[in-house]
Amino acid sequence: MWQWLTPPTPWDEAELGAIASLSIDALPPLPPDPTNAVADDLAAAEFGHALFFEPRLSDNGMISCSTCHQPIRYFTDGLPRGVALGMSKRNTPTIVGSAYSPWMYWDGRRDSQWSQALAPLEDPNEHGTSRMRVLSLVASEPAYRERYEALFGGPPSLLEPAEIDRAFANIGKAIAAYERLLMPGRSKFDDYAAHLAAGGDYREQAYLDDDELHGLRLFMGKGRCTECHNGPLFTNNEFHNTGLLSLPGELPDRGRSDGRRLVEADPFNCLGAFNDDPGRACPELRYVRTGVELIGATRTPSLRNIAHTAPYQSKGQHATLAEVIQHYDVAPLAMIGHNEAEPLGLKPWERDRIEAFLDTLSAPPATDPGWLQAPPAERWRR
Ligand code: HEC
Ligand code: HEC
Repeated sequence: MWQWLTPPTPWDEAELGAIASLSIDALPPLPPDPTNAVADDLAAAEFGHALFFEPRLSDNGMISCSTCHQPIRYFTDGLPRGVALGMSKRNTPTIVGSAYSPWMYWDGRRDSQWSQALAPLEDPNEHGTSRMRVLSLVASEPAYRERYEALFGGPPSLLEPAEIDRAFANIGKAIAAYERLLMPGRSKFDDYAAHLAAGGDYREQAYLDDDELHGLRLFMGKGRCTECHNGPLFTNNEFHNTGLLSLPGELPDRGRSDGRRLVEADPFNCLGAFNDDPGRACPELRYVRTGVELIGATRTPSLRNIAHTAPYQSKGQHATLAEVIQHYDVAPLAMIGHNEAEPLGLKPWERDRIEAFLDTLSAPPATDPGWLQAPPAERWRR
């Protein structure tokens, strides 16, 4: 549909502040993770890098983390739901920037990257292996064993159950050290925000064109997207019910109300024995939010690089961004719990412009390219 374009008007103070808060320049340095003693150790990141791409950590010797979290697809897989030995229950999210989140998974059933990394290894639909087999490989591959001993002060113990679990947790900690290096890059939108912050012309088309500017205004205003997608990663890291349909033949996803119970019961959680921080402050877990509004709620995902990570939503319900925006516009009744979003009454061209704005959030990870591919095999295989 062809529309007269009303020229965009200048931003007011509040809008300028909101734009600055979304910019990557507002992203603080990654906070330390005291629960993981090797979180920022380069030797651990190298070990984790090798493990992330290691197909021998699977039942059939063919599945690695990178099967589903593919660097070339911004660490997603282009599928509605993850596929390895079987099919995952949900859509594969990106890992880029996820170190900032206090919760992992759509339902937040893990509370650190290192505890999360253990789950796919033993998931029968994903790697389908076991902690004993993971540790046996590390113990028998000289390059792995040397690196493990240097980092964790001795060979992985395969005797006592508690020691096996500790060694398994160490594997997750090395993988997390690698994942912490995967950072979102600077997009067209961030350049525009920096230009504005420097006092530049709000309508400088070299940064955002009029459609994109209109989309940005709708994103923060009529579309109400920033109620949940806020901050430099475009997520509040909270759980919300957005009224998504369940997949045909499946019960509606209970989301966070189950995820909270699972994270509380997880032996690898922050309050468990494998946290390296003797203080065990764990404010997120101790004061975890409860309530009926969490039924059917999932974690707000980042929107960085969103144009390149189709299909969308926790079950891959939407193939395109246009479908996602249409969904918010209609705001259907939730199948379970209560949809927090309300109908928006967007015009078709307004939906198009929100999409145009989302396209300005694209940028490859701001991570040295060497980390974005498998390490040379000869380095870790002898
Ligand atoms: C079969 C495909 C598949 C494999 C293999 C796989 N993942 Fe995932 N990953 C997923 C899916 C699907 C989810 C979301 C599941 C959910 O939320 O219930 C996910 C979620 C995650 C998350 C949470 C991100 C966030 O923001 O919530 C991280 C981190 C992650 N995976 C890392 C890994 C690591 C590390 C490995 C290897 C040890 C791995 N994954 C192996 C499919 C896979
Ligand atoms: C009430 C909070 C809330 C509001 C308001 C909201 N979102 Fe979301 N958004 C979410 C949550 C939660 C999800 C994940 C839902 C799921 O898949 O289970 C999500 C998912 C998405 C996705 C899919 C991301 C992916 O990786 O699959 C896109 C795109 C998106 N939202 C864009 C928008 C836009 C554009 C607006 C404004 C029109 C908006 N959102 C408003 C909370 C919100």
